This record gives sequence, C-alpha cells and structure tokens, in this order.
Amino acid sequence: MTVTIAPVKSAPLGFFDSGVGGLTVVRAVQELLPAEDILYLGDTARLPYGSKSPETIRQFADEDTRFLISRGVKAIVVACNTATAHALPSLRERYKLPILGVIEAGVDAALANPHAERIGIIATRGTIGSHAYQHALALRKTGLIIHGQATPLLVPLIEENWLEHPATAMVLKSYLDPLVEKGIDTLMLACTHYPLLIPVLQELLPADVRLVDSATTCAEHLKNELQRLDLLADSSHEGKLEIHLTDLSEEFECLARRFLKRAPGRIQRAVLG
Ligand code: DGL
Repeated sequence: MTVTIAPVKSAPLGFFDSGVGGLTVVRAVQELLPAEDILYLGDTARLPYGSKSPETIRQFADEDTRFLISRGVKAIVVACNTATAHALPSLRERYKLPILGVIEAGVDAALANPHAERIGIIATRGTIGSHAYQHALALRKTGLIIHGQATPLLVPLIEENWLEHPATAMVLKSYLDPLVEKGIDTLMLACTHYPLLIPVLQELLPADVRLVDSATTCAEHLKNELQRLDLLADSSHEGKLEIHLTDLSEEFECLARRFLKRAPGRIQRAVLG
C-alpha cells in the first residue's frame, strides 16, 4: 500500500540514521537552512546498520520512515549511507513525499569536477557491497575507474573519539594505501560518520585528492529540493532540533555534542510501531 502525504512548509524535516552519524548531516542542514525545524530519529537500539543484510535494513528503514511520517514531517532525509544504499528505492515507491538520500548528492558533487576520473569510495561493508555508489557514478559518467573499500573499523574509532590516536592513522593507512596506489583523484566519504575524519584524511592523503562528504553535499541538495518544491520554512522562523532515539544511553549526549558541535538539547525515547 502506498502512503501519500501532502507536505506543508511549516512542518519539520525528518531525518533518520542508525545512530549518531546522521547528525553530521543535521549540522550541515542547520548551517544552511537555520529556519527549518528538524526531527531526528536515531535507531540506536538496532545499530549498526552497516553490517546487516539488505532485507533487514529495508525493514528498519521502513519503520524509521513510518515513525517520522507519524510525526507529521514534510520531507525525509535518509541520513545514513547504508540505509540509502539498500532502502531508498523501496521507500520512494511506498511513501509519496519528498525522500532524499545521501548518495545522489555525493555523486553529483564528485562529478561536478570534470577532471574526476579515478574515484575511491570508503564506507561500511553494506554500502560497498550494495554497489549503489559504483552504479550511480558509472551511470553518470562513462570511463570512470572506481574503487570501493569497506572500512568497518572506522565507525568505532570515531565514536571512541580516537581521531588523533595513532591506531586510527594506522588503520586509515591500511585502508587508503590500496586506493592511493591506484591513483585516485577523488575520495568519497560514503558514511555519515566520516566528516569527523577530514582533518586526519587531509594529513594522510596526497594533497591533490579531493574529498567529497555526505553531509554538506546532502544539505545543498536538500536546499535545492525544498526551493524547487516551494517547501522552505518561513525565513523569520528559528529552527529547532528534536532528537528521538530507540535506545537511550548516557554516552549518546556526549557523542551527539561532538557530531553537532553544540548541545543536542532534550533527547526523547522513540517507540517504533
Ligand atoms: N550511519 C551509517 C552509514 O552512514 C554508519 C553506521 C552504521 O553502520 O550503523 O552507513
């Protein structure tokens, strides 16, 4: 059964992710669209998504979407690369309201550079295994050389705040060396946690490798879409953020502060129907 929603400008934007990573997208959206109210759902009871099967992710994404729709959102941002990779087409088929993922925008941003020819992608196993980025890139431009590298150790290292730790540099080097050997000119950070690694990546990679992340590219894409659909909130409004989690833990607040670069405010428990 398809569900059709008639969006209204004053309604909040709905975001979902497996946990905290999608807050990098929220932060970029807050900077670009400060008038928008945001309702964020982190499915912390069931994370990580990156190692689960496509069927399970589609089911989780469906439940996350229904929760946001039940709260009256005007559009949905799938602020998780793994969920975008596995579930975006099925969500769009089922729910008739604007639904954006993080892949299209990233691919557009990577190919906005006409000299991009050798593209590396780092992401969860699920995102790399789905080939969603590889297909989207190859469809837009022929002759690209694309290398996908699953980097499952990075999310735990980022959540431990080991950004400056030598272990992170070592792990990153093992993941990046094969890509650098292949002469990549662009590295797609295809996981919503990875914008936090940008300073370390800039130190480790040759200076001419361009980094493309999911957060800023998705925020720009969202702004264009809301403009096109005449769904931007009144600019005099001061946007608010409401965070809902399927599991409440003490450490989330501290993590959220690092991802958002500000206090997350009150966090509520979400019960998915
Ligand atoms: N948010 C996920 C992504 O962008 C990474 C974390 C997870 O595996 O749940 O793919």
